[in-house]
Amino acid sequence: MTTPRKLHIKSYGCQMNVYDAQRMVDTLAGEGFVETASAEDADLVILNTCHIREKASEKVYSELGRLRVAKDEAARAGREMKIAVAGCVAQAEGAEIIHRAPTVDIVVGPQSYHHLPELLKRAKENGRALETEFPVEDKFGFLPQPKPDAIRARGISAFVTVQEGCDKFCTFCVVPYTRGAEVSRPVAKIIDDVKQLADNGVREFTLIGQNVNAYHGEGPDGRAWSLGKLLQRLAAIPGVIRLRYSTSHPRDVDDDLIAAHRDLPELMPFVHLPVQSGADRILAAMNRKHTADDYRRVIDRFRAARQDIAFSSDFIVGFPGESEEEFSATLALVTQIGYAAAYSFKYSPRPGTPAAEMRETVSAAEMDERLGRLQELIDSQQSAFNRAAIGTTVDVLFERAARNPGQIVGRTAYLQPAHVMASPDIIGQVRSVRIDSLERYSLIGELATQSAPGLISQTIGA
Ligand code: SAH
Ligand code: SF4
Ligand code: F3S
Repeated sequence: MTTPRKLHIKSYGCQMNVYDAQRMVDTLAGEGFVETASAEDADLVILNTCHIREKASEKVYSELGRLRVAKDEAARAGREMKIAVAGCVAQAEGAEIIHRAPTVDIVVGPQSYHHLPELLKRAKENGRALETEFPVEDKFGFLPQPKPDAIRARGISAFVTVQEGCDKFCTFCVVPYTRGAEVSRPVAKIIDDVKQLADNGVREFTLIGQNVNAYHGEGPDGRAWSLGKLLQRLAAIPGVIRLRYSTSHPRDVDDDLIAAHRDLPELMPFVHLPVQSGADRILAAMNRKHTADDYRRVIDRFRAARQDIAFSSDFIVGFPGESEEEFSATLALVTQIGYAAAYSFKYSPRPGTPAAEMRETVSAAEMDERLGRLQELIDSQQSAFNRAAIGTTVDVLFERAARNPGQIVGRTAYLQPAHVMASPDIIGQVRSVRIDSLERYSLIGELATQSAPGLISQTIGA
């Protein structure tokens, strides 16, 4: 093979894009590409984009402006730089990107990443290539597995896509259009992926999907398996210490999932369960197909199964027609549930979605004001949750050396970063840590003494 070509990928948006970026790197490794940290010296730059809110989408065009300069400079130095736009903006605005940004060589939608080598060839021959079809074949069957070295370099925590796409059509959301219909991967394929990752040192697995608990992949018995059943199977794989899943929808929480939280110590007691609003009229206008009370009942079921469970959520403020009382209902729900963390966004009208046609808009000033109040409440809950860890002993899965010399950082069950002074040997292990203090969002502690062997839970002899 000739000298390796350099590839730079910049990802925006959700965890699915982070995962997809790795699959693109793995696919292009087969074409002789190696990853580089800077766009300037890359032969191929991929922008892996997000369309969820207007701000996210617009970043693409400003980034393309910067890349055009880099591309021109490379050309002056006698080097060719190709620019590709992938992800959800590519899917939603493919033709427009080709039209608006002559600097772009390739546009590729999320379901066609396995065609990247072919698209590169086409761009070389024809100047430009666009692919935003939803191909009939399943891309997962064609995307190559990462090499052991690549897995090791990515660390002990990995995402595994188990489900993609969404059939829910919340009226504000572009995802059903950009990612297409809901598809679940077969259980056997997921088991293979998890085994390979575990064999190469991965200890924490986050199963991802736009609607992950709508999972209904084909099991080895020929039946559709639920997410709960899948989790149970994966927990039995040697090397799997922690399991998580994201993002789940309140409507798809079934008894299997609740049972998994009751029965599986590997399944972390931290669930991201977006509710969006606490007002039933708004939830109906959003087409969420659940009420605030339905959501409270779902939370209660989780809590009954596992006492130490904590939640995070997403909220939208200023959905068309949201009144002050309706916004107050959201605050009341947050107060009642008590979150460990949450994300909140100002409503952003998205082209092609039903809500974008709704007339009763909330003013920018009101949205800002509501967002401020909601975030203040969420911040106070998050701080209280973090402070409550001080003085307790918690399990931490250690990930890597921290910035301060001698310090190792890991995460608690609730994804709080935790720092201790220790030997790097503990990386990849779960250890008990006595938490002494809190610095911003990070817990600081010491390894608990090892006198009681039972305490050092789940350290596996891989
Ligand atoms: N699949 C996930 C959400 C994906 S989008 C789910 O169903 O929960 C992540 C979050 O972005 C959403 O939960 C919502 O809070 C927010 N979001 C989506 N569309 C938005 C829009 N048009 N304006 C503002 N926020 C939006
Ligand atoms: Fe979007 Fe709703 Fe589907 Fe989540 S469930 S991806 S918010 S349409
Ligand atoms: Fe964004 Fe697409 Fe994810 S719109 S949030 S990158 S599914």
